[in-house]
Amino acid sequence: MAWSKHNTRLAFVGAGVVGGSLAAALSRAGYSVVASASRSFASAVELARWADGCVAYETPQQAADAADFVFLTTPDDAIPLVAASMTWRAGQGVAHCSGAASLDALDAAAAQGAVPGAFHPLQAVSSIENGSKSIRGITFGIEGGENMRAFLSTMAADLGAYPIFVRSEDKPLYHLTGVMMGGLLTTLGAATATLWEELGYTREEGIRALMPMMRQVSVNLSSSGLPGAVAGPYARGDVGTVRKHLEALSERAPHVLPLYCELALVGLPFSVEKGTLSEDRAEEIRVLVERYMRGTAD
Ligand SMILES: NC(=O)c1ccc[n+]([C@@H]2O[C@H](COP(=O)([O-])OP(=O)(O)OC[C@H]3O[C@@H](n4cnc5c(N)ncnc54)[C@H](OP(=O)(O)O)[C@@H]3O)[C@@H](O)[C@H]2O)c1
Repeated sequence: MAWSKHNTRLAFVGAGVVGGSLAAALSRAGYSVVASASRSFASAVELARWADGCVAYETPQQAADAADFVFLTTPDDAIPLVAASMTWRAGQGVAHCSGAASLDALDAAAAQGAVPGAFHPLQAVSSIENGSKSIRGITFGIEGGENMRAFLSTMAADLGAYPIFVRSEDKPLYHLTGVMMGGLLTTLGAATATLWEELGYTREEGIRALMPMMRQVSVNLSSSGLPGAVAGPYARGDVGTVRKHLEALSERAPHVLPLYCELALVGLPFSVEKGTLSEDRAEEIRVLVERYMRGTAD
């Protein structure tokens, strides 16, 4: 029997922020989330609070036995260990939510006849409350055989999200795009906000000053796309302004200089593509930036 929203009982093993967020969102979307389990019973109880009719169990095995389809939402490293510690029924579905791990993390379950899948929410999730509200409009990276893909892509659509299929060999590249846009963009925000301490302000004041810009950049990228969203002194070809930036960073925040230079160089082709920066001016900027990167500026 093919899994569907109407005939499939779901369980979550690993009651953290992603498990809880998905359980809450799926329950709201009309799916039957019937069971939860975790390392600690308290976490299983907390997840169950977010899904109507969900029962918290003491062990992963009890939760899996109550369900047709099990999400293993533990940390990545625990997925193969938990899968191997359990007894699976032939035809039972089992999916993890890791963006970096592939289906082989579920080999032990598949060896017993369970059907493996991956359902990765391309989103930064830090709490069940916020996470369950942040799923609409996101993309889910899905792996699995034909039935698994059909079920999980319908599930993504039922959550108001976009399903995409990712090949196993592409998983690390796929995942790092999310890490760059999430964790590493946060690092960029942290590095730039902390520069405000050099101006005599706190980094919290820096965050308040810079975040409207971060929000607008995401609006511009979504609405204008590439290269339309590219703007600023690089897109204008303002070499003098770029030189002032490089001098200021060299003198006052040399630890940020390599980050600034790398981003500047990666961005140049998009400004050329937009047509606002000539090839010659782009080359002039590239040479200047590389001199500062190598520490050979005058
Ligand atoms: N957070 C994100 O932004 C994000 C985004 C996309 C995908 N993911 C993926 O989602 C998965 C879960 O991540 P998360 O952020 O939700 O982590 P998390 O909040 O740390 O939750 C993981 C949960 O797994 C439980 N657990 C740990 N070891 C276990 C074991 N051996 N048996 C059963 N339960 C165990 C923990 O238990 P207790 O609370 O009971 O101690 C914890 O509640 C990971 O594969 C991660 O890569 C995360």
